[in-house]
Amino acid sequence: MASAVATDFTNKVLFSDEVAEFSPEVVKEMESHLTKYPPERKRSALIPLLFVIQRERGYVDNPGVNFLAKFLGLEVTDVWETATFYSMFNLRKIGKHHIQICKTLSCKIMGEPGITDHICHKLGIHPGETTEDGKFTVSLVECLGSCGTAPMMQIGFDYYENLTPEKCDEILDKLD
Ligand code: FES
Repeated sequence: MASAVATDFTNKVLFSDEVAEFSPEVVKEMESHLTKYPPERKRSALIPLLFVIQRERGYVDNPGVNFLAKFLGLEVTDVWETATFYSMFNLRKIGKHHIQICKTLSCKIMGEPGITDHICHKLGIHPGETTEDGKFTVSLVECLGSCGTAPMMQIGFDYYENLTPEKCDEILDKLD
């Protein structure tokens, strides 16, 4: 019989009120995203703006989210619920090269477990970890919409498809 595990639901996640600051150029870039949507639908700019936050801050952090909430006139929780839904937003510091391996059905059937093992063994880390030198982070993610060329992975904004262990070695060895 499985033993019961007590869960403490009283734990509070504490967020700071710190608000990130950005250069006038970056604020201008953010404002340019707003012009793409009707004024009463500023919230629609959330995803491109989260990408700006991620680029500028290294990841989507608490002060960056506070800035966006103020910028868009939203609740902080509105911003977090979008930021935490999509795997393309990193909620912690990651390595220079973010290797996102698709773990969904087509990729799984076509060899994802072997690809993941190979990459993780080569880098000496587990999924969800970053190499000590800060160069690589490996994540397992849901379908990246390239099922016909499974197994596949995304590094940065680039897709690498029909992966084999040899192909993975070639790709990783070329990244500086
Ligand atoms: S299942 Fe891997 S890209 Fe769709």
